[in-house]
Amino acid sequence: MAHRPAGKRIEVVPSILSADLGRLTAQVQEAEAAGADRIQVDVMDGHFVPNLTFGPGIVAAVRAACSLPIEAHLMVERPEEFLSAFVSAGATLIEVQVEATTSLYRTVQTIHQLGAQAGVAINPATSVEDLREILPYVELVNVMTVEPGFGGQKFIPGSPEKIRRLRTLSSSVEIEVDGGIDASTAPLVVSAGASVLVAGNSVYGYRGGVAAGIKAIRDAVG
Ligand code: DX5
Repeated sequence: MAHRPAGKRIEVVPSILSADLGRLTAQVQEAEAAGADRIQVDVMDGHFVPNLTFGPGIVAAVRAACSLPIEAHLMVERPEEFLSAFVSAGATLIEVQVEATTSLYRTVQTIHQLGAQAGVAINPATSVEDLREILPYVELVNVMTVEPGFGGQKFIPGSPEKIRRLRTLSSSVEIEVDGGIDASTAPLVVSAGASVLVAGNSVYGYRGGVAAGIKAIRDAVG
Protein backbone atom coordinates (compact mmCIF):
# COMPACT_ATOMS: atom_id res chain seq x y z
CA MET A 1 0.00 0.00 0.00
CA ALA A 2 1.35 3.42 -0.95
CA HIS A 3 2.04 6.20 1.52
CA ARG A 4 -0.12 8.85 -0.19
CA PRO A 5 0.44 12.63 0.07
CA ALA A 6 -1.56 13.90 3.09
CA GLY A 7 -5.25 14.45 2.27
CA LYS A 8 -4.62 14.12 -1.45
CA ARG A 9 -7.12 12.18 -3.51
CA ILE A 10 -5.30 9.98 -6.01
CA GLU A 11 -6.69 10.61 -9.48
CA VAL A 12 -6.72 8.00 -12.25
CA VAL A 13 -6.59 9.42 -15.79
CA PRO A 14 -7.08 6.93 -18.65
CA SER A 15 -5.13 7.84 -21.78
CA ILE A 16 -7.15 7.14 -24.95
CA LEU A 17 -3.92 6.44 -26.87
CA SER A 18 -4.49 2.78 -25.89
CA ALA A 19 -8.26 2.80 -26.40
CA ASP A 20 -10.13 1.05 -29.23
CA LEU A 21 -10.55 4.18 -31.37
CA GLY A 22 -13.26 2.52 -33.42
CA ARG A 23 -15.36 2.59 -30.22
CA LEU A 24 -13.99 5.80 -28.74
CA THR A 25 -17.28 7.11 -27.32
CA ALA A 26 -18.06 3.80 -25.61
CA GLN A 27 -14.47 3.50 -24.31
CA VAL A 28 -14.61 6.99 -22.79
CA GLN A 29 -18.03 6.31 -21.24
CA GLU A 30 -16.76 3.01 -19.80
CA ALA A 31 -13.92 4.91 -18.07
CA GLU A 32 -16.31 7.57 -16.73
CA ALA A 33 -18.71 4.91 -15.43
CA ALA A 34 -15.77 3.13 -13.77
CA GLY A 35 -14.84 6.26 -11.79
CA ALA A 36 -12.03 7.77 -13.89
CA ASP A 37 -11.24 11.31 -12.71
CA ARG A 38 -10.17 12.81 -16.06
CA ILE A 39 -9.43 11.69 -19.61
CA GLN A 40 -6.06 12.34 -21.27
CA VAL A 41 -5.72 13.00 -25.00
CA ASP A 42 -2.14 12.56 -26.25
CA VAL A 43 -1.46 14.97 -29.10
CA MET A 44 1.63 14.06 -31.15
CA ASP A 45 2.88 15.89 -34.28
CA GLY A 46 5.49 13.48 -35.64
CA HIS A 47 8.21 16.08 -34.91
CA PHE A 48 8.48 16.55 -31.15
CA VAL A 49 7.89 12.80 -30.87
CA PRO A 50 8.16 10.10 -33.61
CA ASN A 51 4.43 9.43 -33.74
CA LEU A 52 1.28 11.09 -35.11
CA THR A 53 -1.99 10.99 -33.14
CA PHE A 54 -4.91 13.30 -32.40
CA GLY A 55 -6.15 16.80 -33.17
CA PRO A 56 -8.86 19.05 -31.62
CA GLY A 57 -11.55 16.92 -33.33
CA ILE A 58 -10.78 14.00 -31.02
CA VAL A 59 -10.95 16.28 -27.98
CA ALA A 60 -14.40 17.41 -29.18
CA ALA A 61 -15.47 13.76 -29.53
CA VAL A 62 -14.31 13.00 -25.97
CA ARG A 63 -16.07 16.17 -24.77
CA ALA A 64 -19.32 15.00 -26.35
CA ALA A 65 -18.95 11.53 -24.80
CA CYS A 66 -18.41 12.49 -21.14
CA SER A 67 -18.53 15.23 -18.51
CA LEU A 68 -15.05 14.56 -17.08
CA PRO A 69 -12.21 17.11 -17.19
CA ILE A 70 -10.07 16.58 -20.32
CA GLU A 71 -6.31 16.99 -20.45
CA ALA A 72 -4.75 17.73 -23.83
CA HIS A 73 -1.08 16.70 -23.55
CA LEU A 74 0.62 18.52 -26.39
CA MET A 75 3.73 16.64 -27.51
CA VAL A 76 4.15 19.06 -30.40
CA GLU A 77 6.61 21.71 -31.51
CA ARG A 78 5.35 25.35 -31.20
CA PRO A 79 2.41 24.35 -28.91
CA GLU A 80 1.48 28.03 -28.62
CA GLU A 81 -0.04 27.80 -32.13
CA PHE A 82 -2.63 25.21 -31.05
CA LEU A 83 -3.80 26.36 -27.60
CA SER A 84 -7.10 28.02 -28.50
CA ALA A 85 -8.12 25.20 -30.87
CA PHE A 86 -7.80 22.62 -28.05
CA VAL A 87 -9.54 24.80 -25.47
CA SER A 88 -12.39 25.54 -27.89
CA ALA A 89 -12.71 21.78 -28.52
CA GLY A 90 -13.31 21.21 -24.80
CA ALA A 91 -9.93 20.62 -23.13
CA THR A 92 -9.99 21.88 -19.50
CA LEU A 93 -6.24 21.47 -18.95
CA ILE A 94 -3.51 22.01 -21.52
CA GLU A 95 -0.08 20.49 -20.94
CA VAL A 96 2.88 21.70 -22.96
CA GLN A 97 6.35 20.14 -23.00
CA VAL A 98 8.97 22.46 -21.50
CA GLU A 99 11.39 21.29 -24.21
CA ALA A 100 9.02 22.34 -27.03
CA THR A 101 8.67 26.11 -26.57
CA THR A 102 11.00 29.08 -26.15
CA SER A 103 8.31 31.24 -24.49
CA LEU A 104 6.95 28.98 -21.74
CA TYR A 105 5.83 31.84 -19.47
CA ARG A 106 3.80 33.50 -22.24
CA THR A 107 2.37 30.11 -23.28
CA VAL A 108 1.19 29.41 -19.72
CA GLN A 109 -0.34 32.89 -19.49
CA THR A 110 -2.18 32.33 -22.75
CA ILE A 111 -3.62 29.02 -21.55
CA HIS A 112 -4.99 30.79 -18.47
CA GLN A 113 -6.38 33.67 -20.55
CA LEU A 114 -8.22 31.05 -22.64
CA GLY A 115 -9.87 29.85 -19.41
CA ALA A 116 -8.06 26.54 -19.05
CA GLN A 117 -5.67 25.14 -16.43
CA ALA A 118 -2.00 25.01 -17.39
CA GLY A 119 0.39 22.11 -17.00
CA VAL A 120 3.97 21.54 -18.04
CA ALA A 121 5.36 18.13 -18.96
CA ILE A 122 9.02 17.14 -18.73
CA ASN A 123 10.85 14.38 -20.58
CA PRO A 124 12.86 11.78 -18.64
CA ALA A 125 16.21 13.48 -19.39
CA THR A 126 15.01 16.96 -18.40
CA SER A 127 15.91 18.07 -14.87
CA VAL A 128 13.18 19.23 -12.49
CA GLU A 129 15.48 22.18 -11.79
CA ASP A 130 14.48 23.51 -15.23
CA LEU A 131 10.98 24.06 -13.79
CA ARG A 132 12.00 26.21 -10.81
CA GLU A 133 10.91 29.53 -12.40
CA ILE A 134 7.67 28.36 -13.98
CA LEU A 135 6.35 26.33 -11.02
CA PRO A 136 4.52 29.25 -9.33
CA TYR A 137 2.46 29.80 -12.51
CA VAL A 138 1.20 26.30 -13.32
CA GLU A 139 -1.40 23.99 -11.75
CA LEU A 140 0.29 20.73 -12.71
CA VAL A 141 3.59 19.14 -13.66
CA ASN A 142 3.55 15.94 -15.70
CA VAL A 143 6.69 13.92 -15.01
CA MET A 144 7.02 11.61 -18.01
CA THR A 145 7.93 8.17 -16.65
CA VAL A 146 8.65 6.90 -20.18
CA GLU A 147 10.14 8.61 -23.22
CA PRO A 148 7.03 10.14 -24.85
CA GLY A 149 5.68 8.87 -28.15
CA PHE A 150 4.10 5.47 -27.52
CA GLY A 151 1.90 3.58 -25.07
CA GLY A 152 2.86 0.25 -23.47
CA GLN A 153 6.46 1.18 -22.64
CA LYS A 154 8.36 0.17 -19.49
CA PHE A 155 8.36 2.52 -16.48
CA ILE A 156 11.73 4.28 -15.94
CA PRO A 157 12.97 3.07 -12.49
CA GLY A 158 14.61 6.39 -11.46
CA SER A 159 11.28 8.25 -11.72
CA PRO A 160 10.27 8.14 -8.00
CA GLU A 161 13.54 9.88 -7.03
CA LYS A 162 12.90 12.57 -9.64
CA ILE A 163 9.37 13.10 -8.27
CA ARG A 164 10.79 13.50 -4.74
CA ARG A 165 13.16 16.18 -6.01
CA LEU A 166 10.28 18.00 -7.69
CA ARG A 167 8.23 17.86 -4.49
CA THR A 168 11.09 19.66 -2.68
CA LEU A 169 10.78 22.50 -5.22
CA SER A 170 7.01 22.89 -4.71
CA SER A 171 4.78 21.51 -1.97
CA SER A 172 1.61 22.63 -3.75
CA VAL A 173 1.88 21.88 -7.47
CA GLU A 174 -0.07 18.81 -8.61
CA ILE A 175 2.32 16.08 -9.75
CA GLU A 176 1.15 13.84 -12.57
CA VAL A 177 2.97 10.79 -13.87
CA ASP A 178 2.62 9.35 -17.32
CA GLY A 179 3.95 6.14 -18.86
CA GLY A 180 4.16 2.56 -17.59
CA ILE A 181 1.81 3.27 -14.68
CA ASP A 182 0.04 0.14 -13.35
CA ALA A 183 -0.73 -1.61 -10.05
CA SER A 184 2.98 -2.30 -9.45
CA THR A 185 4.41 1.15 -10.28
CA ALA A 186 1.54 3.34 -8.98
CA PRO A 187 2.45 2.86 -5.27
CA LEU A 188 6.07 3.90 -6.00
CA VAL A 189 5.11 7.22 -7.58
CA VAL A 190 2.34 7.99 -5.08
CA SER A 191 4.75 7.42 -2.18
CA ALA A 192 7.15 9.85 -3.89
CA GLY A 193 4.51 12.59 -4.06
CA ALA A 194 2.49 12.11 -7.25
CA SER A 195 -1.32 12.22 -7.08
CA VAL A 196 -2.45 12.13 -10.73
CA LEU A 197 -1.85 8.82 -12.52
CA VAL A 198 -2.15 8.60 -16.31
CA ALA A 199 -2.78 5.04 -17.42
CA GLY A 200 -3.13 3.80 -20.98
CA ASN A 201 -2.32 0.12 -21.39
CA SER A 202 -3.10 -0.75 -17.77
CA VAL A 203 -6.69 0.48 -18.29
CA TYR A 204 -7.59 0.04 -21.96
CA GLY A 205 -5.37 -3.04 -22.35
CA TYR A 206 -6.26 -4.62 -19.01
CA ARG A 207 -7.39 -8.26 -19.48
CA GLY A 208 -10.41 -7.80 -17.17
CA GLY A 209 -11.56 -4.63 -18.95
CA VAL A 210 -11.53 -0.89 -18.23
CA ALA A 211 -13.30 -0.96 -14.85
CA ALA A 212 -11.06 -3.76 -13.55
CA GLY A 213 -7.98 -1.89 -14.77
CA ILE A 214 -8.94 1.28 -12.92
CA LYS A 215 -9.84 -0.74 -9.80
CA ALA A 216 -6.48 -2.56 -9.83
CA ILE A 217 -4.64 0.78 -9.73
CA ARG A 218 -6.92 2.24 -7.04
CA ASP A 219 -6.57 -0.91 -4.88
CA ALA A 220 -2.78 -0.73 -5.22
CA VAL A 221 -2.58 2.84 -3.90
CA GLY A 222 -5.25 2.33 -1.25
C1 DX5 B 1 3.13 8.38 -24.14
C2 DX5 B 1 1.89 9.06 -23.67
C3 DX5 B 1 1.23 8.34 -22.54
C4 DX5 B 1 0.80 6.94 -22.88
C5 DX5 B 1 0.76 6.13 -21.61
O1 DX5 B 1 3.89 9.27 -24.86
O2 DX5 B 1 2.17 10.36 -23.27
O3 DX5 B 1 0.11 9.05 -22.07
O4 DX5 B 1 -0.43 6.95 -23.49
O5 DX5 B 1 0.51 4.81 -21.94
P1 DX5 B 1 0.92 3.61 -21.00
O6 DX5 B 1 0.16 3.82 -19.72
O7 DX5 B 1 0.45 2.41 -21.77
O8 DX5 B 1 2.39 3.65 -20.79
